[in-house]
Amino acid sequence: MDMQVIPVKKGDFNLKDYDRMRETFSWDDMKQYFTWNHTGKVNMAYEALDRHAEDPNKKDKIALLYSAPDREEKVTFGELSKESNKFANILKNYGIVKGDRVFLFMPRSPEFYKAFFGILKIGAVAGPLFEAFMEQAVRDRLQDSEARVLITTPELLERVPQEDLPDLENIIIVGDLKDESDKYIDFKKEMEAASDEFEIEWVDLEDGMLLHYTSGSTGKPKGVYHVHNAMIQHYATGEWVLDLKEDDIYWCTADPGWVTGTSYGIFAPWLHGVTNVIRGGRFTPDDWYQTLEKYGVTVWYTAPTALRMLVSHGEDKVKNYDLSSLRHIMSVGEPLNPEVITWGIKAFNLRIHDTWWMTETGAQLIVNIPALEVRPGSMGKPIPGVEASIVDNEGNELPPNQMGNLAIKAGWPSMMRAIWNNPSKYESYFINGWYVSGDSAYRDEDGYFWFQGRLDDVINTSGERVGPFEVESKLIEHPAVAEAGVIGKPHPERGEIIKAFITLNAEYEESEELLEEIRQFVKTGLSAHAAPREIEVRDSIPKTRSGKIMRRLLKSWELGLPTGDTSTLEE
Ligand code: WT7
Repeated sequence: MDMQVIPVKKGDFNLKDYDRMRETFSWDDMKQYFTWNHTGKVNMAYEALDRHAEDPNKKDKIALLYSAPDREEKVTFGELSKESNKFANILKNYGIVKGDRVFLFMPRSPEFYKAFFGILKIGAVAGPLFEAFMEQAVRDRLQDSEARVLITTPELLERVPQEDLPDLENIIIVGDLKDESDKYIDFKKEMEAASDEFEIEWVDLEDGMLLHYTSGSTGKPKGVYHVHNAMIQHYATGEWVLDLKEDDIYWCTADPGWVTGTSYGIFAPWLHGVTNVIRGGRFTPDDWYQTLEKYGVTVWYTAPTALRMLVSHGEDKVKNYDLSSLRHIMSVGEPLNPEVITWGIKAFNLRIHDTWWMTETGAQLIVNIPALEVRPGSMGKPIPGVEASIVDNEGNELPPNQMGNLAIKAGWPSMMRAIWNNPSKYESYFINGWYVSGDSAYRDEDGYFWFQGRLDDVINTSGERVGPFEVESKLIEHPAVAEAGVIGKPHPERGEIIKAFITLNAEYEESEELLEEIRQFVKTGLSAHAAPREIEVRDSIPKTRSGKIMRRLLKSWELGLPTGDTSTLEE
């Protein structure tokens, strides 16, 4: 089969000499762009906000273009810098110091960004939680991180199990509380009273900045710990991959509860002093196109699941909008289907550029940059300063075209520095100097990487990573459920959907209502994206002799595939 190649579009983009750069580049080259080069200390909040606020030409530039169904707001770099100073002062009043964990559990809003940077300014570690999380998900994360302060809204407060959180000293409420308001800190009131001057906490490159919880195939979600040093790579990829220029209007559709929404929804654009569109609420295809048109978005970073949704609504819809400002589109989170790229060329007259990375990697690693020909279906090539390879289970490199573990030579700037409270889990990622991703892939002769699948049981549904163990644990909390095994089942729009196999306790009978009740139980207890779309009742769940659920076997049955080795199956 002839490989499809989409050539580089002529234009003015960054990093034209990609292959030469890959040979000569060193991360030290990038350090000249940061202030710490002179002081030896650093703070992400300074580099992303205050630096621009101090610049008379940038201070009144719009940093945040906020848009939600019921609210619109523009915030300049100068304002955001001062507002985050106020929030840092509030935290200081309540005794927060460098290294403390401060969590945010709220929808995207200007307040979120003010608070987020206030946390960084005091040197604390920010923990953003996705607004759709339910009680169990919130409990797990706040307990594990021993968070001292939480910022949330009156609507979300009921999902915060305060009695189970002894370390949580204060809750700051954004919005109006009717009852018990004296138990909580009122964001608005305190912001009005706070000084907008704050002596920023200068930290070391290796000091903590961010905790993002993510799912594996076993156990509770893991706290992926990132440090200020990551800014070097956020800055570099903002230039090379996002191709950001001074006058860009940039839109990243991800929520800051996920790493894309922080690394590329906050850090990369603002390190470059670029105007950033933040869109709250749920979207229909018309909302997406309207947002692109209304703000004149030039650079757009989104996800395959969203793009597939747009594809399903047809090319004609695009024609109702003037999207002529758009010049660069990127995607992340799941495999980007070649058909979507082909559609993108028809619909937008632009290539869609796939990028590959993970919560643990902190920033993009394998990418399609504007200067590279696109081979649809490939994730692209590693960025300068990053060595990627395909290795076997012992960490030996494999030749081109051979499938194996996608691995990165450890030591890139934005690499996670710990799994919170779990050093052995952290160690388990590394073999023979390689960070092993858990993805399988191969590399072709020209150095392009091609994604094949996950090597573990982690499910990727609409670009969100779900651990089967979490869902199984929630399922068996339901009185009707005896045992549960959870898999990802391929789905054309969502990538995968969650399918649960369960056995029922003796006194329960299968019915539509019961299955729906169980589904709702997971949805309201854990989160909507973790709720199984399909539930199948079985007489037994296949397990190994040591009692492990054999998800692989469930999957083979579901997909009608050969069952492989079943020698460890319990009789
Ligand atoms: C997993 C990481 C950090 C981005 C958001 C997801 C899958 C990510 C791609 C891609 C195929 C991809 C991988 C990876 N993934 N990007 N371009 N092509 N698969 O972060 O939640 O930590 O998930 O998402 O399986 O391991 P995450």
